[in-house]
Amino acid sequence: MTDIRPLPHILKTKPYVPGGKLAGAKGPVVMLASNENPFGPNPLAIEAMREAATSVHVYPDPTYGALREAIAAAAGIKDANRIAVSSGSDEIIHLLTQCYAGPGDEILQTEHAFSMYAVSATAHGAACISVPETDLTAGANAILGGVSEHTKILFLANPNNPTGTMMSVEALAQLQDALPPHVLFVIDGAYAEYVGPDYEAAIRDLVDRRANTVMMRTFSKIHGLAAARLGWAYLPQEIAETFQRIRGPFNVNSLAVAAGIASISDPAFIAMTRDHNSLWRTTMIDALNAMSLDTPVSHANFVIPDFGSAERAAAAHAFLKDRDILVRAIAGYGLPTRLRISVGSEEDNEAVLAALKDFTASR
Ligand SMILES: Cc1ncc(COP(=O)(O)O)c(C=O)c1O
Repeated sequence: MTDIRPLPHILKTKPYVPGGKLAGAKGPVVMLASNENPFGPNPLAIEAMREAATSVHVYPDPTYGALREAIAAAAGIKDANRIAVSSGSDEIIHLLTQCYAGPGDEILQTEHAFSMYAVSATAHGAACISVPETDLTAGANAILGGVSEHTKILFLANPNNPTGTMMSVEALAQLQDALPPHVLFVIDGAYAEYVGPDYEAAIRDLVDRRANTVMMRTFSKIHGLAAARLGWAYLPQEIAETFQRIRGPFNVNSLAVAAGIASISDPAFIAMTRDHNSLWRTTMIDALNAMSLDTPVSHANFVIPDFGSAERAAAAHAFLKDRDILVRAIAGYGLPTRLRISVGSEEDNEAVLAALKDFTASR
């Protein structure tokens, strides 16, 4: 025992539950639990990391100028000074919360939001308020109904994880106009590339439309760099300056910098992954619906079939695990009757569909 006591809100914080790994697998594991890129990293990023490895005894450039310029060029952002980079986009969630919310404040999210928003709110002593979704989709009216004088940040993943649903750009703009100016609107675009370049440009433009909007992005999904831990945000000038005050001076490592520059400068790899994803997402949704596992339209790189009951979903999870196939249980997101299945390689997608066909034939 020790007399050293954490702050009360730290003790209240429930740690994030990751997708996990499959222990004791009999053969090759089909990993469809964490929305990773089935093609791995871009070969150009691997080569860039190899080269950068020889210089890891030298601290990275603390301004991350080259990486920010590469992101700006790829994303059509004029002022690279308004881009911040981070160790995964999780760090952006934490740093924004740290900057703007504390005890007595509220963070706003929707019913089935990505769980790091609540983790971060609680860890900083703020309350996390969730408003209902309709048909698994966030809506402006419900969100506005949840705003109070204490609301500091609205976190909205669009497309959302784990539902895969999204609000239209028009609806986002209407929400943005109706939000009171004291609320920071954070559009989490972790899956934006799967929607396409027009959508990426549209959410970038929303940041320029009003001084209270931030867009955050990640290299963990379509870029296939989840373990490199690299995220970024496009921020209004004043918010960018506030963010820089508390960012660790070397929060992104040099291997991630090299990989990020190579990957974001190669739109062909991103387009190839997006095309594969779109094709297989449709195939998987159709196949799952044909098995009477109701699967809504998804705009991301995963799908969420409904097994009708929490027991049947848990049984399907265990059945797949027994075949060395790992998918994500999402009861913790208020979706106990569904499982989240990432769109993987052709082989992995076929394996999970074949296994679920066997499961549904027997139960
Ligand atoms: C909606 C959303 N935002 C942010 C993240 C964080 O990703 P990372 O910290 O790997 O950039 C994830 C990861 O799953 C996510 O689904």
